[in-house]
Amino acid sequence: MGAAINFPHFVGQVNDLLSSSQVRSMSRLCHHGKVTCYDHSLFVAYVSFRAARFLKLDYRAAARGGLLHDLYLYNSRDKSAHPGWQCFDHPEAALRNADRLTELSDKERNIILSHMWPVAKYRPRSKEAALVDFVDTLCATLELCRVYRPIRLRAHLPQALLPQSAAEAAA
Ligand SMILES: [Fe+2]
Ligand SMILES: [Fe+2]
Repeated sequence: MGAAINFPHFVGQVNDLLSSSQVRSMSRLCHHGKVTCYDHSLFVAYVSFRAARFLKLDYRAAARGGLLHDLYLYNSRDKSAHPGWQCFDHPEAALRNADRLTELSDKERNIILSHMWPVAKYRPRSKEAALVDFVDTLCATLELCRVYRPIRLRAHLPQALLPQSAAEAAA
């Protein structure tokens, strides 16, 4: 991941989402250990984009769905923030927030909903959804085993898209 191949092309697919306050706010939520929801989602989106391009699949849907798949936007360790089971419920919360943020294709909606399959109930209905489901598990494993620190991908983002700009930090 060091060279971040095709990163500008990847950013071009998700530029509007990376600019949004909702996606940026994931940088304030821990997800896997100290890895934030933002860095995990950027990692999943980029690897999904690369894999989908290699496999000649819909890389835009893979990148967008990957970036939004964990957009649940609450502290998962706060039981009052989510009454049910985080593992089963968060794809639906992510889809609700993603639907408010942008117009999603049916494929992108299913990518978000099915990313916990077979643990959760929604089944992937496209190759791209199955790919993002697999990449999510792979990235989570690499993060939890501390094989790769996804925060390193931020170095390849344009300054204006970094999640915590000086203005946000001051807010
Ligand atoms: Fe998730
Ligand atoms: Fe995830």
